[in-house]
Amino acid sequence: ARFFRIAPSILSADFARLGEEVDNVLASGADIVHFDVMDNHYVPNLTIGPMVCKALRDHGVTAPIDVHLMVKPVDQLISDFIDAGASIITFHPEASDHIDRSLQLIRDGGCQAGLVLNPATPLGYLDYVMDKLDMVLLMSVNPGFGGQAFIPQTLAKLRDTRAKLDASGYDIRLEVDGGIKIDNIAEVAAAGADTFVAGSAIFKARRSEDPHDYDSVIARM
Ligand code: DX5
Ligand code: ZN
Repeated sequence: ARFFRIAPSILSADFARLGEEVDNVLASGADIVHFDVMDNHYVPNLTIGPMVCKALRDHGVTAPIDVHLMVKPVDQLISDFIDAGASIITFHPEASDHIDRSLQLIRDGGCQAGLVLNPATPLGYLDYVMDKLDMVLLMSVNPGFGGQAFIPQTLAKLRDTRAKLDASGYDIRLEVDGGIKIDNIAEVAAAGADTFVAGSAIFKARRSEDPHDYDSVIARM
């Protein structure tokens, strides 16, 4: 049996109070911290790097940190995030010249490894590296920004991916990222996802309403 995990994306957190925001979502029942790294090259936005991951560890965060690299190239930042206390590191296969080597680099550093597939990226990228994967992340929006709408074709892709992972015999997590809300998460889970990234649904709820409203958002997911 596989258990579900909620992974708040700190892309939508208040960066001026990041430690407190992360403490709050974890206290509210979040399982892992989703950490979006954008380089203004692979994606048209710029966010946070290894120093901020290290700062969260120094702040006392012990939960798994799930680093989603939207950068090109990937290998140097993989090494830097291993040193900065990452738990899981995923990257987009189009952004690495040597996918197998980059996955191995992550595992050699003691982290869990995963590939991220954009909405139009084929599942074939998984075929010959299944033994090196701890997680597959399907993007349900085009990467770069929070607050976008869930792309409905992701549901069929989740079902196909789940079948592929189950057939492989490996224990590989299936994460989904983009546009996940209270009102679509059940359908997304039924399609085969077990780990759910949610940014704006969690953090924007808190800022628009009472200070602890994300409690109820996470509880209802
Ligand atoms: C988008 C990021 C996502 C984003 C999700 O490129 O990878 O993690 O923060 O945000 P929401 O949940 O608002 O779609
Ligand atoms: Zn992400």
